[in-house]
Amino acid sequence: KKYDEREKLFNLNREAALYFYNNLKSSQKALKYLKSRNIDYKIINKFGLGYAKDSWDDLLKYLKGKGYSEELLYKVGLIVQRKDKSGYYNRFRDRIIFPIINTRGKVIGFGGRVLDNTQPKYLNSPDTPVFNKGYNLYGINVLKNNKSYDRAILVEGYMDVISLNKYGIDYATASLGTAFTESQAKLLKKFAKEFYICYDSDEAGMRATEKALEILYQQDIKARVIILPKGKDPDDYIKERGKKAFEEAIDKSLNLVDYKIYIYKKKIDTSTTEGKIKFTKAIAQFLKKIKNSIELDVYLNEISNSTGISVDAIKSEVFGRKSNNV
Ligand code: UTP
Ligand code: MN
Ligand code: MN
Ligand code: MN
Ligand code: MN
Repeated sequence: KKYDEREKLFNLNREAALYFYNNLKSSQKALKYLKSRNIDYKIINKFGLGYAKDSWDDLLKYLKGKGYSEELLYKVGLIVQRKDKSGYYNRFRDRIIFPIINTRGKVIGFGGRVLDNTQPKYLNSPDTPVFNKGYNLYGINVLKNNKSYDRAILVEGYMDVISLNKYGIDYATASLGTAFTESQAKLLKKFAKEFYICYDSDEAGMRATEKALEILYQQDIKARVIILPKGKDPDDYIKERGKKAFEEAIDKSLNLVDYKIYIYKKKIDTSTTEGKIKFTKAIAQFLKKIKNSIELDVYLNEISNSTGISVDAIKSEVFGRKSNNV
């Protein structure tokens, strides 16, 4: 019974995705918007992009006509109940639609973007019996089936996944705007061997990167961080600089410790004695994680050189006393 209902909801989502896809083909406005974002038909088809019309009930009527009940439509989050409970209306109106597809090819939910800058910029399906944001990754269906590297790049948004694909980088997946979770890390782990994080290069993105690194580390995933120029996201960057530049950024990616050094150098003024001490103490916490003694030695020397603190002093900070865990 439970299984039947899930299948019904998947089918309903698929019908809706097809409807959105067909709308897109006949909407000049939506096609023009996608064109302005550098998205062509190949990508539209690969990701099954669509358009939700500027209507309160076209989808509702269409799917009811196909025999689906309002109750079911409400269950998958395609419609919203009116405040006075007198009926339902379309959740997604006048938005570009990004179907969210799981590893088994089922449409589990949707994201919708406005065509201008009104807020909220993105709407997502709510949690439903077949969709839970924290358990899924956007683009994992494409990543899973790719024939290129055994890599995964974790990005923030729909457009980042899509834009990277447009340039032939078919191993990106997005955490759907939520904080990256342990379940997402476990999912990701199944489909790659090399892991990268490339969140937006802003305050929020940097904070989220540190958290994601930790969550991945707990799953025994040693992810590297791809650094982009300030204010850019992967979509912006690859559009401006091209595939080669993005691949160079991948080559220059930082491991956990190097990323911590990079972050703390930004946060702490290491030109003062106080700053040097603070910086070294902060970094020492992360050096503890390094099992390989040669690697550790490299970092000890690097930090010693850049702070003027002796390797011995840093060593005793790392091993000498108990400090707080991260
Ligand atoms: P961003 O604001 O960085 O979006 O949010 P973006 O993908 O770069 O947007 P554009 O299209 O290029 O302007 C990153 C992700 O966070 C989620 C979405 O998944 C988005 O792709 N998000 C963002 C939301 O769910 N709701 C929002 O209002 C904004
Ligand atoms: Mn963001
Ligand atoms: Mn952002
Ligand atoms: Mn972004
Ligand atoms: Mn963007």
